[in-house]
Amino acid sequence: MKYICLNPIAEAGLQKLPPFFEKTENLGDADAVLVRSAKMHEMDFPPCLKAVGRAGAGVNNIPVDRLSEAGVVVFNTPGANANGVKELVILGLILAARDAKGGMKWIEENREDPELSKSMEKAKAKYAGTEIRGKTLGVIGLGAIGVLVANNAVDLGMKVIGYDPFLSVSHALHLNPAVSVENSLDTLYTACDYLTIHVPENPSTRGMLNSDAFSKMKDGAALLNFARDGLVNEDALSEALSSGKLRIYVTDVPNHRVANLPNVIAFPHLGASTEESETNCAVMAAEEITDFLLNGNITNSVNFPNCTLGHAEKPVRIAVAHRNVANVISSITSVFGAVHANISDMVSKSRGDYAYALFDLDSEIDDDAAGKIREIPNVLRVELIRR
Ligand code: MLT
Repeated sequence: MKYICLNPIAEAGLQKLPPFFEKTENLGDADAVLVRSAKMHEMDFPPCLKAVGRAGAGVNNIPVDRLSEAGVVVFNTPGANANGVKELVILGLILAARDAKGGMKWIEENREDPELSKSMEKAKAKYAGTEIRGKTLGVIGLGAIGVLVANNAVDLGMKVIGYDPFLSVSHALHLNPAVSVENSLDTLYTACDYLTIHVPENPSTRGMLNSDAFSKMKDGAALLNFARDGLVNEDALSEALSSGKLRIYVTDVPNHRVANLPNVIAFPHLGASTEESETNCAVMAAEEITDFLLNGNITNSVNFPNCTLGHAEKPVRIAVAHRNVANVISSITSVFGAVHANISDMVSKSRGDYAYALFDLDSEIDDDAAGKIREIPNVLRVELIRR
């Protein structure tokens, strides 16, 4: 097996790969890609590519649709960097409440003043700010990061309202019961002093914070975006900041235009860049890729369903990525039947337009039978994992 790192990947993660996995510099002969932020949309992928492991949560740098049609499984590492991002969001919340930034700038500008300790007592009134305790925070998106932010904000004495139409049972179980989960975004817009957004950018979320959303927000609300810049409509943001509708915009995903708007506090995408988060993401991505390449198991894919059958111990395990349509599984099993191969175990899962199946066979099948499976309509990729 060969893998390529399109970005530097933390050594602790690379150490998790089996020693017989070979690092290559050539995408053309890679079985797997490990990537952080490298833009992959314009890349051509070789037929040998089986998996992409994104050391991070967002996958908007990866052509997921194209890879899905090639049967390439794209993994991400949900939650692995959530604490790093959450800590920076809490800093952002406090910076939105207290003008620590203005105050620090004043100190920089007046550091030569021998009377600094006296003059600052007069100057400080301009940077006073307010406290976040008792204020209302709206959290849009209660995934790994949103849940941590919501719970910490409760601990800091905030009233927290959450919104997530896709809230998972596991995330719901981790949410502090003091967080009120609403099923309308408008409730968050109208009630909140602070709003923070933690959703992926995709066609349904792109530009969701638009002029309509801003018009419903409290006058002087603060918005935090530590997810993706495309979630916020820039014209609407510019207008809301200029009119004072939005008091402040704190973002970890600025671009040139946004960084030059008034009342913006911007970080250079620092949230998940801690040593701990980079290590956690690299380790998780490496473990996912290893289990996939050695056993065909899928955990935390963004394009195929979770599907696992433990360690591959039978003479052969067949992994089939296919479109989620009728008659694929029956066509595959009839190939096994024709060569008298007994299925000792199998699992088949679907997710949206795609599906994935693993079959453990008690005896080998030859290349001819494997070829017949590859020819079945709607089969995207077939891998044979031999013991
Ligand atoms: C993520 O998507 O995990 C974060 O935005 C950090 C990153 O892009 O690596």
